[in-house]
Amino acid sequence: MLAAISERLSDVVGFERIAEDIYVRGYSILTDVLPVELAESLYTHNQSMSQAIFEKAGIGRSDEHQQNQSIRRDEICWIDGYTPTGQMWLSFCAELQKYLNRRLLLGLHSFESHFAHYKPGMFYKRHYDAFKGSTNRILSLVTYLNKNWHESDGGHLVLYQNDEDTTGIKVLPTHGTLVVFLSEIFPHEVLPANRDRYSIAGWFRVNGTHGGVIDPPR
Ligand code: OGA
Ligand code: MN
Repeated sequence: MLAAISERLSDVVGFERIAEDIYVRGYSILTDVLPVELAESLYTHNQSMSQAIFEKAGIGRSDEHQQNQSIRRDEICWIDGYTPTGQMWLSFCAELQKYLNRRLLLGLHSFESHFAHYKPGMFYKRHYDAFKGSTNRILSLVTYLNKNWHESDGGHLVLYQNDEDTTGIKVLPTHGTLVVFLSEIFPHEVLPANRDRYSIAGWFRVNGTHGGVIDPPR
Protein backbone atom coordinates (compact mmCIF):
# COMPACT_ATOMS: atom_id res chain seq x y z
CA MET A 1 0.00 0.00 0.00
CA LEU A 2 2.62 2.51 1.09
CA ALA A 3 4.90 1.38 -1.72
CA ALA A 4 2.08 1.89 -4.22
CA ILE A 5 1.37 5.37 -2.90
CA SER A 6 4.99 6.48 -2.93
CA GLU A 7 5.40 5.09 -6.43
CA ARG A 8 2.43 7.10 -7.61
CA LEU A 9 3.84 10.19 -5.92
CA SER A 10 7.17 9.75 -7.67
CA ASP A 11 5.32 9.35 -10.99
CA VAL A 12 3.64 12.69 -10.35
CA VAL A 13 6.98 14.35 -9.56
CA GLY A 14 8.35 12.97 -12.83
CA PHE A 15 5.25 14.11 -14.77
CA GLU A 16 5.64 17.61 -13.32
CA ARG A 17 9.25 17.79 -14.50
CA ILE A 18 8.16 16.72 -17.99
CA ALA A 19 5.33 19.30 -17.97
CA GLU A 20 7.69 22.11 -16.94
CA ASP A 21 10.24 21.16 -19.59
CA ILE A 22 7.55 21.10 -22.29
CA TYR A 23 6.17 24.43 -21.08
CA VAL A 24 9.59 26.13 -20.95
CA ARG A 25 11.36 24.68 -23.99
CA GLY A 26 9.03 22.32 -25.83
CA TYR A 27 10.99 19.17 -25.10
CA SER A 28 12.07 17.05 -22.18
CA ILE A 29 14.97 14.61 -21.92
CA LEU A 30 15.06 12.76 -18.59
CA THR A 31 16.93 9.66 -17.50
CA ASP A 32 15.19 9.06 -14.17
CA VAL A 33 11.42 9.44 -14.56
CA LEU A 34 10.40 6.11 -16.05
CA PRO A 35 9.45 3.80 -13.14
CA VAL A 36 12.17 1.14 -12.79
CA GLU A 37 9.65 -1.70 -12.70
CA LEU A 38 8.11 -0.51 -15.97
CA ALA A 39 11.47 -0.02 -17.68
CA GLU A 40 12.54 -3.54 -16.65
CA SER A 41 9.29 -5.07 -17.79
CA LEU A 42 9.53 -3.38 -21.20
CA TYR A 43 13.14 -4.48 -21.51
CA THR A 44 12.34 -8.13 -20.77
CA HIS A 45 9.28 -8.09 -23.02
CA ASN A 46 11.28 -6.64 -25.89
CA GLN A 47 14.01 -9.24 -25.43
CA SER A 48 11.51 -12.06 -25.58
CA MET A 49 9.57 -10.78 -28.59
CA SER A 50 10.00 -12.82 -31.70
CA GLN A 51 11.66 -11.04 -34.58
CA ALA A 52 8.82 -12.33 -36.73
CA ILE A 53 6.31 -9.93 -35.19
CA PHE A 54 8.30 -6.88 -36.13
CA GLU A 55 7.26 -5.46 -39.49
CA LYS A 56 9.21 -3.16 -41.75
CA ALA A 57 8.26 0.39 -40.83
CA GLY A 58 6.48 2.52 -43.41
CA ILE A 59 6.18 6.27 -43.88
CA GLY A 60 2.77 7.92 -44.14
CA ARG A 61 -0.59 6.70 -42.99
CA SER A 62 -2.96 3.91 -44.09
CA ASP A 63 -3.49 4.25 -47.87
CA GLU A 64 -0.35 6.33 -48.35
CA HIS A 65 1.52 3.76 -46.31
CA GLN A 66 4.67 2.86 -48.10
CA GLN A 67 8.11 1.68 -47.21
CA ASN A 68 10.82 4.14 -47.95
CA GLN A 69 14.14 2.57 -47.25
CA SER A 70 16.17 5.68 -48.00
CA ILE A 71 14.49 7.56 -45.15
CA ARG A 72 13.95 4.99 -42.46
CA ARG A 73 15.36 1.56 -41.85
CA ASP A 74 13.77 0.22 -38.71
CA GLU A 75 11.31 -2.56 -37.89
CA ILE A 76 8.32 -1.91 -35.67
CA CYS A 77 5.69 -3.66 -33.57
CA TRP A 78 2.62 -1.73 -32.36
CA ILE A 79 1.85 -2.01 -28.64
CA ASP A 80 -1.60 -3.08 -27.52
CA GLY A 81 -2.94 -3.74 -24.04
CA TYR A 82 -3.10 -7.53 -24.41
CA THR A 83 -0.01 -8.29 -22.33
CA PRO A 84 0.65 -7.21 -18.73
CA THR A 85 3.66 -5.22 -19.94
CA GLY A 86 1.67 -3.54 -22.71
CA GLN A 87 -1.01 -2.70 -20.13
CA MET A 88 1.50 -1.24 -17.67
CA TRP A 89 3.05 0.88 -20.42
CA LEU A 90 -0.28 2.14 -21.77
CA SER A 91 -1.56 3.01 -18.31
CA PHE A 92 1.65 4.93 -17.51
CA CYS A 93 1.23 6.88 -20.76
CA ALA A 94 -2.47 7.44 -20.04
CA GLU A 95 -1.55 8.90 -16.63
CA LEU A 96 1.05 11.15 -18.27
CA GLN A 97 -1.55 12.22 -20.85
CA LYS A 98 -4.04 13.10 -18.10
CA TYR A 99 -1.39 15.02 -16.17
CA LEU A 100 -0.24 17.04 -19.19
CA ASN A 101 -3.83 17.81 -20.19
CA ARG A 102 -4.58 19.13 -16.72
CA ARG A 103 -1.32 21.02 -16.40
CA LEU A 104 -0.84 22.38 -19.94
CA LEU A 105 -4.37 22.12 -21.38
CA LEU A 106 -3.11 20.19 -24.37
CA GLY A 107 -6.38 18.37 -25.07
CA LEU A 108 -4.58 15.12 -25.81
CA HIS A 109 -7.14 12.52 -26.71
CA SER A 110 -5.36 9.28 -27.58
CA PHE A 111 -2.01 7.57 -27.66
CA GLU A 112 -0.36 5.10 -30.01
CA SER A 113 3.07 3.55 -29.71
CA HIS A 114 5.32 0.84 -31.09
CA PHE A 115 8.51 -1.00 -30.34
CA ALA A 116 11.23 -0.27 -32.88
CA HIS A 117 14.33 -2.22 -33.73
CA TYR A 118 17.21 -0.68 -35.69
CA LYS A 119 19.74 -3.24 -36.83
CA PRO A 120 23.39 -2.13 -36.92
CA GLY A 121 23.83 0.55 -39.59
CA MET A 122 20.12 1.39 -39.79
CA PHE A 123 18.86 4.94 -39.32
CA TYR A 124 15.91 7.31 -39.59
CA LYS A 125 16.82 10.47 -41.51
CA ARG A 126 15.90 13.94 -40.28
CA HIS A 127 12.11 14.29 -40.19
CA TYR A 128 9.13 15.75 -38.36
CA ASP A 129 6.61 13.45 -36.72
CA ALA A 130 3.88 15.90 -37.71
CA PHE A 131 3.38 18.79 -40.11
CA LYS A 132 1.46 21.87 -39.05
CA GLY A 133 -2.22 21.49 -39.74
CA SER A 134 -1.98 18.19 -41.57
CA THR A 135 -1.93 15.77 -38.70
CA ASN A 136 -3.12 15.33 -35.18
CA ARG A 137 0.07 14.12 -33.58
CA ILE A 138 0.86 16.71 -30.92
CA LEU A 139 3.45 15.21 -28.62
CA SER A 140 6.09 12.61 -29.45
CA LEU A 141 7.57 10.31 -26.85
CA VAL A 142 10.54 7.96 -27.12
CA THR A 143 12.13 5.62 -24.62
CA TYR A 144 15.03 3.24 -24.97
CA LEU A 145 15.66 -0.38 -24.08
CA ASN A 146 19.44 -0.61 -24.45
CA LYS A 147 21.57 -1.53 -21.46
CA ASN A 148 25.32 -0.79 -21.30
CA TRP A 149 25.11 1.55 -24.26
CA HIS A 150 28.13 3.83 -24.77
CA GLU A 151 28.90 6.93 -26.88
CA SER A 152 30.95 4.76 -29.20
CA ASP A 153 27.89 2.57 -29.92
CA GLY A 154 26.29 5.53 -31.74
CA GLY A 155 22.55 5.41 -32.51
CA HIS A 156 21.93 8.86 -31.03
CA LEU A 157 18.64 10.62 -31.37
CA VAL A 158 19.46 14.14 -32.59
CA LEU A 159 16.81 16.70 -31.72
CA TYR A 160 17.05 19.94 -33.73
CA GLN A 161 15.59 23.24 -32.49
CA ASN A 162 14.30 24.28 -35.92
CA ASP A 163 14.96 23.93 -39.67
CA GLU A 164 18.15 26.04 -39.48
CA ASP A 165 19.69 24.07 -36.63
CA THR A 166 22.35 21.69 -37.92
CA THR A 167 23.92 20.86 -34.55
CA GLY A 168 21.03 19.63 -32.47
CA ILE A 169 20.99 17.94 -29.10
CA LYS A 170 22.38 14.41 -29.13
CA VAL A 171 20.65 11.87 -26.92
CA LEU A 172 22.25 8.52 -26.21
CA PRO A 173 19.58 5.77 -26.43
CA THR A 174 20.24 4.33 -22.98
CA HIS A 175 17.85 2.15 -21.00
CA GLY A 176 15.21 4.17 -19.16
CA THR A 177 15.84 7.51 -20.88
CA LEU A 178 12.56 9.21 -21.76
CA VAL A 179 12.31 11.91 -24.42
CA VAL A 180 9.13 13.93 -24.99
CA PHE A 181 8.81 16.76 -27.54
CA LEU A 182 6.26 18.76 -29.50
CA SER A 183 5.79 16.84 -32.75
CA GLU A 184 5.36 19.84 -35.07
CA ILE A 185 8.26 21.85 -33.67
CA PHE A 186 11.33 19.62 -33.55
CA PRO A 187 12.88 17.95 -36.57
CA HIS A 188 14.97 14.97 -35.45
CA GLU A 189 16.86 11.97 -36.70
CA VAL A 190 18.23 8.62 -35.59
CA LEU A 191 21.92 8.09 -36.36
CA PRO A 192 23.17 4.64 -37.30
CA ALA A 193 24.41 2.47 -34.44
CA ASN A 194 26.91 -0.32 -34.47
CA ARG A 195 24.74 -2.51 -32.23
CA ASP A 196 21.08 -3.54 -32.33
CA ARG A 197 19.14 -0.53 -31.06
CA TYR A 198 15.75 -0.97 -29.36
CA SER A 199 13.27 1.79 -28.58
CA ILE A 200 9.62 2.60 -28.12
CA ALA A 201 8.20 5.55 -30.01
CA GLY A 202 4.75 6.93 -29.24
CA TRP A 203 2.48 9.84 -30.08
CA PHE A 204 -0.22 11.64 -28.16
CA ARG A 205 -2.91 12.86 -30.50
CA VAL A 206 -5.81 15.24 -30.49
CA ASN A 207 -9.06 14.23 -32.09
CA GLY A 208 -9.48 15.32 -35.66
CA THR A 209 -10.96 14.45 -38.98
CA HIS A 210 -9.10 13.28 -42.03
CA GLY A 211 -10.66 13.69 -45.46
CA GLY A 212 -14.10 14.25 -43.95
CA VAL A 213 -14.15 11.00 -41.99
CA ILE A 214 -13.38 10.49 -38.34
CA ASP A 215 -9.65 10.06 -38.05
CA PRO A 216 -8.55 6.43 -37.98
CA PRO A 217 -6.28 5.42 -35.12
CA ARG A 218 -3.19 5.19 -37.32
C1 OGA B 1 10.39 7.92 -34.79
C2 OGA B 1 11.63 8.46 -34.18
C3 OGA B 1 13.39 8.31 -32.53
C4 OGA B 1 14.26 7.32 -31.82
O1 OGA B 1 10.12 6.71 -34.67
O2 OGA B 1 9.65 8.72 -35.41
O3 OGA B 1 11.97 9.58 -34.50
O4 OGA B 1 15.20 7.78 -31.14
N1 OGA B 1 12.33 7.73 -33.28
O5 OGA B 1 14.05 6.11 -31.93
MN1 MN C 1 10.32 10.71 -35.30
